[in-house]
Amino acid sequence: MYTHIHQLALEVKKGVEAAHPKVDVELYQVAETLSQEVLDKMHAPPKPDVPIITPDKLTEADGFLFGFPTRFGSVPAQFNAFLDSTGQIWMKGGLDKKFAGFFTSTATQHGGQETTVFTTITYLAHHGINYVPLGSGISYFGDTSELIGGGFWGAATITGSDASRPISEREKEVARFQGKRFAEIVATYIRGAQV
Ligand SMILES: Cc1cc2nc3c(=O)[nH]c(=O)nc-3n(C[C@H](O)[C@H](O)[C@H](O)COP(=O)(O)O)c2cc1C
Repeated sequence: MYTHIHQLALEVKKGVEAAHPKVDVELYQVAETLSQEVLDKMHAPPKPDVPIITPDKLTEADGFLFGFPTRFGSVPAQFNAFLDSTGQIWMKGGLDKKFAGFFTSTATQHGGQETTVFTTITYLAHHGINYVPLGSGISYFGDTSELIGGGFWGAATITGSDASRPISEREKEVARFQGKRFAEIVATYIRGAQV
């Protein structure tokens, strides 16, 4: 809506690409479900120039890093609509044994980063997709000297109530870390390659 997730996704992508030159990463956005009138009232800027994903794209990938802002501590309706559109793929087990991780954003410091990820893991369970957490490899998660989004469940940023807070350098670093770690795990387990 206000581009934080898009910017985080670009950092995650850099991390994936840093894992190995042969790792192939593609960036997509889900379709908007709100009308332009509502988006205007919410002061939403134009969408980034990123292709809209269709469910079949998921079957082509070994893994997915899904990013979405929180809505009441849970996944946004726009993203849920996309997840719901994978029913036919689910019937064929089309995403079974693939890998996924999540990253998110909240307006407030305790606005639900962990619940947003946690409540979306059910989707992975039903598809048989392996959840890959970010883990504990970031040393400054315990540093209280500055505001920093993200944690063991995935990268995240805190946007402020008016979505004006820029993503901090450390939050970007966490996003790149998640992308790299995720790509290394997927490559190791799916391709049998050491990266
Ligand atoms: C309907 C709605 C519900 C929201 N619920 C929450 C919430 O529960 N906790 C929170 O911290 N922020 C909440 N927000 C703020 C958004 O998460 C925030 O604008 C978003 O993370 C910004 O990311 P973006 O720039 O990618 O849109 C909500 C926003 C909307 C429009």
